[in-house]
Amino acid sequence: MQAVVLVGGEGTRLRPLTLETPKPMVPVMNMPFLERTLRRLKEAGIDDVILPAGYLPEAITSYFGDGSALGLHIRYVIESTPLGTAGALKNVEQYIDGPFFVLNGDVLTSLDLRAMMDFHRRKGGIGTLHLIRVADPSAFGCVVHDANGRVEAFVEKPPRDEAPTDEINAGTYLLEREVLDRIPAGRPVSIERETFPALIAGGGRPLYAFTTADYWIDLGKPEAYLSAHRHVFDGVMPLGLAPQVDGPGAAAVPASAIRPPAFIGHGCRVHPDAVVGPYAVLGNGCEIGPDAVVADSLLWDDVVVETGAQVDWAIVASRARIGAGARVTQGAVIGHGAHVAAGTVLVENARVAVER
Ligand code: GTP
Repeated sequence: MQAVVLVGGEGTRLRPLTLETPKPMVPVMNMPFLERTLRRLKEAGIDDVILPAGYLPEAITSYFGDGSALGLHIRYVIESTPLGTAGALKNVEQYIDGPFFVLNGDVLTSLDLRAMMDFHRRKGGIGTLHLIRVADPSAFGCVVHDANGRVEAFVEKPPRDEAPTDEINAGTYLLEREVLDRIPAGRPVSIERETFPALIAGGGRPLYAFTTADYWIDLGKPEAYLSAHRHVFDGVMPLGLAPQVDGPGAAAVPASAIRPPAFIGHGCRVHPDAVVGPYAVLGNGCEIGPDAVVADSLLWDDVVVETGAQVDWAIVASRARIGAGARVTQGAVIGHGAHVAAGTVLVENARVAVER
């Protein structure tokens, strides 16, 4: 079985984080998210992976190379202009030789890929779509199906009180190769908006819905990216973390500074009078000064938080510096190498980036 992981999106909603780091390389507990996805594929027995990329592709190709370090064979296909979620598949058609998985590169889920393969084989459809139930489907693509799982309709982002179902497209598909025959070549095509609706309208072999109660989150927005870490710390999304404090640098940080749960990268320097946690992730080489507080936040590599600064429910990209006494809170996102001046107060989804 092969897999195509879609990694070509610009990740505009995660800016400024994605100005330097493509969304699939954004770390989850200090490991690029795409690496976690690729490891999951390997565990499910899938080792032939195609990555259609286009936005900052070198960050991906230089990290994974040919995939052999992960026991995979990875092929990259670079789009000069974005082809959309189905156009990207058509563009790799020559490398696909049978049924294949398609994964959105920004979905964190505990979905059992082998169970999905079994379901697909049993049903014998042209494709199987993973669905999950959400409380509010209005921000998602709703998928309507009959009692046998046969997909009948797609309803994109319906008003909340008009949603026909609470089951949404969770961004993992298992498709037969013939789906590629139905995608026009040479132009951008969206799989959700064009290809799947056309397959239903065509009335041929059905698409089936595989609805599960797995953990699922789309990491595409800062708030979701932060929440996902909370869910991992709380064990709602199982990633096998040690309880309390985990990470390669955990033992080297003064115990007086840690409020569990926390995850600490290697080479961090944390002052004994700092507070790290609860729900804090420090990347590698971070420096946390006296009386500084980092709670409910994600710091990437080589971030400096100076004396008395507070970082609370915020994301700080690599090499950024938070000046003494500054407050970075309420969903603020600080870009790579940005400096927040001493005493600055950032609230309500503030964004700070170095000018380019
Ligand atoms: P936003 O700009 O914030 O909407 O993010 P995005 O560009 O990543 O778009 P979206 O979240 O809708 O994309 C879903 C998945 O498809 C992500 O894994 C993207 O990397 C991927 N993707 C989106 N558009 C393209 C494309 O044109 N080509 C390829 N190869 N992948 C794409």
